[in-house]
Formats: sequence, C-alpha cells, structure tokens
Amino acid sequence: MKRNDFLKTLGFGTAGVLVGESLLSGCMNHDMATMDMATAPTVVEGAFTTTLSIPETITSGTALNARSQNAAILAGKPGQVLGYKNGILGPVFRVQRGSTVTIPFTNGLSEETNIHWHGLLVPAAMDGHPDQMVMPGQSFSYTFKIDQAANTAWYHPHPHEKTGKQVFMGLAGMFIVESPEEKALNLPSGNYELPLIIQDKRLSADGTTLYEPTLEEVMIGYMGETVTVNGVNAPFQNVATRMYRLRIINGSNGRMYNLALSSGNAFTVIGSDGGLLPAPESVTSLLLSPGERADLLVDFSKTAINSEVFLQSNSFSGVNSQGNQTFKILKFTVNKAETDAFQMPVTLNTVTQLLTSAAAKTRTFDIGIAADGAGGHGGSMAMKGMHTINGKIFSSERIDESINVNSTEIWEFDNTKGDEPHPMHLHGTFFQVISRTGGRGNILPHEKGLKDTVLAMPGEKVRIIVKFERVGKFVFHCHNLEHEDDGMMLNFEVK
Ligand code: C2O
Ligand code: CU
Ligand code: CU
Repeated sequence: MKRNDFLKTLGFGTAGVLVGESLLSGCMNHDMATMDMATAPTVVEGAFTTTLSIPETITSGTALNARSQNAAILAGKPGQVLGYKNGILGPVFRVQRGSTVTIPFTNGLSEETNIHWHGLLVPAAMDGHPDQMVMPGQSFSYTFKIDQAANTAWYHPHPHEKTGKQVFMGLAGMFIVESPEEKALNLPSGNYELPLIIQDKRLSADGTTLYEPTLEEVMIGYMGETVTVNGVNAPFQNVATRMYRLRIINGSNGRMYNLALSSGNAFTVIGSDGGLLPAPESVTSLLLSPGERADLLVDFSKTAINSEVFLQSNSFSGVNSQGNQTFKILKFTVNKAETDAFQMPVTLNTVTQLLTSAAAKTRTFDIGIAADGAGGHGGSMAMKGMHTINGKIFSSERIDESINVNSTEIWEFDNTKGDEPHPMHLHGTFFQVISRTGGRGNILPHEKGLKDTVLAMPGEKVRIIVKFERVGKFVFHCHNLEHEDDGMMLNFEVK
C-alpha cells in the first residue's frame, strides 16, 4: 500500500498529512517523512563458527508440545524462545506417502495456538484453520493420511493476529514427504541432504528474541538483523567434494532471500512447494519469499579442499523496503574428498499441466490496496486493514469465496497498484503458476512445479490455475505474517 493510503488508513485525509506527521511522531519510532516505507534492518553477519544444528528426525506418533524453551541463537547467549520439542523450532518429520500420521499436540503456551500443515493436503478439520484453536493447557491429536507427491512441507501456528509472533518466537518445523518414485531418482540423502529453515530474528543485547512490531513494521513485515539457519545464527557445515541436497524453507515473517552461492556458481533447483519440478533447472540465484520452499542440489565436486563457500542472499530490486544488501547465511567448508555416482536426472517428475480451457471461473484479487475507510481514529494504535484482499480484511465467520468441489479455476493476484511484495498462499491445495505480467514478467524456474505460495512483487499480476479437490473451509492469505495478522487473509469454502 502507498504512503498516502497509509495516512488515510491512519485516519488522516491527504490534507491532514502535516498534522498526521506531527501526531504520529509521538507514537512511532521514525518520522513519517522518512517512511517511504521503512526499510529492513541491516543484517549483521556472525562468525560462522557454530556447527549447523540438524533437527531430530521423527515420524508419526511423536508428540509436539508448544512451549517456552531456552536456546542460544547467538553462541553463548541463551534466551527464551518457543519450540515444539527440544529447543527452538520443532523436529523434522519424515513420512512416506500413503501412510497415516498421528501427532498428539499439547498447547503449553499461555495463549491459544494450533498447528497448520503448510504444504500437506489434509482434511479441513486437521488444517489448523484460525477457527480451530487449541486453548492453553489443552491437547488435540492431529491425524491425516499423506496422499500427495513427495515434497518439503512445514508446520507452524495459525492463530489469527498471533501467527507472526508465535512463528517469530520459534514455532515452526519441517515436514518431509517421501515416495518410491522420488527414491528411484537416487537424490543425495542421509548426511548429504540438509534440512534448512532460514529465518531472521531480532535480538536484544543479551540474546532475548524480541517481537514488537511498530506500525511501519506491520507495513513491511517484521524483520531482524540476525539471520538464522535451524535456529542458530551464522552456522557452518563441513561438506565433502560431492553433490548435496538442500531443502530450504523461508520461515521468516517478512524477509525474502535471494539465494546464491558466494562462488557465483550455478546450482540446481529440483523442487519447490508441491514437490519435484518436471526437470532440473540451473540457476545462479533464486528469490524465495516467506512460506516458499526450495529443493536444491549443490555440487561441491569441483570445489578445492579446505575452501569455503557461503550460501548467501544477494541484493535484489523490485521493492524498496528490502533487498539492498548482500549477506551470508551459512558457511560450507569443503574438508573431505569424496566421489559420488550421482547423475543429474534429465526429468524428475510428471506434473500434469492444468489447462486454462478447463477453468470454470476466473477470480481476481486486488492485493495492492488498503481497506476502504479502515483503521483508526480513536485511541488505539492497533489499526487493522492496512493490508487487504479486494479491500477486505479477515473475518472468521464470513465465507469470501464459494467453490464447487473438483472445479478448476484461475485466480489472479493483482499487485499492480501495490508497493509491497505479497507471497500469496492457499491452504488445502496446490496450484500452478500460469503467468506473471509486470515486474519480473515471467514464470521463474522454481515455479514450474506445483506451488502453494507465490510471490507477487509490486507491479506484478500473477495468475494461477488450481483444481479444488478437498472440501471444507480453508484460508488463503499473504504469508508476510504481519500482513496476514493485519487481516490480509480470506476464507474460501469448497463444497
Ligand atoms: Cu504457512 Cu496459512 O500458512
Ligand atoms: Cu499453509
Ligand atoms: Cu503481504
């Protein structure tokens, strides 16, 4: 949304800008004049001397308990965070397609929470809709059959207006679905397959995680200066001279990463949200927005022993609030000679293209505007509706879109009037990206498979095609978690 709309949202007409600025300076960290919009805090790189921590791998039956934990995001500075088992984040689920998982969950927090299985096609009653809260001290057993292609999914809380805080404080984990078809490709596995959840954190000097977004940070997403992988800042991983598989989740609230190798070498995208791509795609950088996953192959076979290669985020353009910095995320130290027999497959997966001619309907969603007349005069600075979909903010009771089961539709996310990036996410289904006009102007390599989250940069209009096969009430929303909590989420019901 634009600065003028922002002022309007605050309750000042255009003529009230000056008044607005002086009024606001009393309750905001920065002057409105400097706010076009706020920018991401500069990332402070760490020392890359802490070993990468690989979360415990579990299967069905393991209980999760959302609770307060102590963890050292910065070496030697333990602080209070949230986690699902031991320490920050949660274990990595590794589950076979066709199996039924049962996950007993207990809410050990002092507020409501739940679990949403992002990238798993589960029944609506198990999806962690914001209606389905588990109250403090209460338990709920999630159970569902894994009926989808192999992919990298994740799980995190979904309480309306509190998702951003709970995820930022540490509630998130990876969920891997495996299948015989994928096994047959002999992709790097075991020690050669690394689950990586990338997040940024804001920490106080003593290492305490802080979540206290200002209005400006609701505008751009809450970002921190400390980038973490699996909950630890600036880790390193020893690798051998061979191929590695990196399963990456951007689990950040608002920060995007333009993933690249410090060597400048190309790497291979083999999958994204919904599983493997039709064929490997060689890239030198990949912009990953909050909620999206990237399944990558990185070849260290030609890297000299004892050299270092960083996974980093290159600077990028297209948005004012972030992207002007290149920073390192994870250090690989190549310390061992090894050969592998891995051959890059020519094809990876069959992804049946949904045809636009099969679409029963096109729905358009304007994601670049603020709510009409939303927000606050009055005493509270807690304004809603700076981020909307078609001018609406989330209401639990309202069904915004009614869809016939098994119908195919085209959905269009129109950010042509917006000036912020919006990673749009649908629950309960995967989709295919069929076009992007404006901005980057094309479909990107990692968008050639099934997706559940697609980035619409400022100026872009993104069209997706989706077949709705699961009945029930689901949400779709922006995965910038401050935008989501601000109301940029609607309900759809398939029946
Ligand atoms: Cu990962 Cu509704 O979100
Ligand atoms: Cu989701
Ligand atoms: Cu958004």
